[in-house]
Amino acid sequence: MVQERQTQGKAVCWTLRLWSVAVVSMLLLSTCFIVSGIVTYKFMMDKPSRRLSELHTYHSSLTCFSEGTMMSEKMWASCPNHWKSFGSSCYLICTKENFWIISEQNCVQMGAHLVVINTEAEQNFIIQQLNESRTYFLGLSDPQGNGKWQWIDNTPFSQNIRFWHPQEPNLPEEQCASIVYWNPLKWGWNDVFCDNKHYSICQMKKIYL
Ligand SMILES: *[C@@H]1O[C@H](CO)[C@@H](O)[C@H](O)[C@H]1NC(C)=O
Repeated sequence: MVQERQTQGKAVCWTLRLWSVAVVSMLLLSTCFIVSGIVTYKFMMDKPSRRLSELHTYHSSLTCFSEGTMMSEKMWASCPNHWKSFGSSCYLICTKENFWIISEQNCVQMGAHLVVINTEAEQNFIIQQLNESRTYFLGLSDPQGNGKWQWIDNTPFSQNIRFWHPQEPNLPEEQCASIVYWNPLKWGWNDVFCDNKHYSICQMKKIYL
């Protein structure tokens, strides 16, 4: 009787051990599985593959150009087809007029934003693409109407990079900025009503392959 109970006890003990080994192994395996899943996800979602896969949703093909100097490695910089390339960005002149906020949303849908002008060279490049009879929204607004102009990508609004037409901006109610050609002043910025419809310019970072 005693002998039998001991044997039973041993058997239970072994079963327990086997179960714990099994449970621990399962835990280890699932941890491995989850970790490898996370690592793969991270790896797959790394730039530039992530940007590329995002872009494919909106842009069926890219135009790429070889960039880089003797010093650095050659790279392929790409813009979606029909977008203009300048510096490290791509630009699209939108040929439909819309409100400022809708124009921005249209840019965002394409993985871009309304244009942010950082240098005179950039402005000079952009105006070459524009039609002198049209007004184009910029990614610049004064949401409170208190003269605190803000770029849409949070670039600080620099004292040096401002190309307002003379006497502009002139109205606190005009809380969005546009670029427009006025004779004989040529191209410059003007504050306009955000809920008027204008053309617009989208900008996105180039994709480096
Ligand atoms: C420029 O814009 C005007 C007004 O929208 C339009 O009539 C004209 O066809 C445009 N010119 C070009 C070259 O697109």
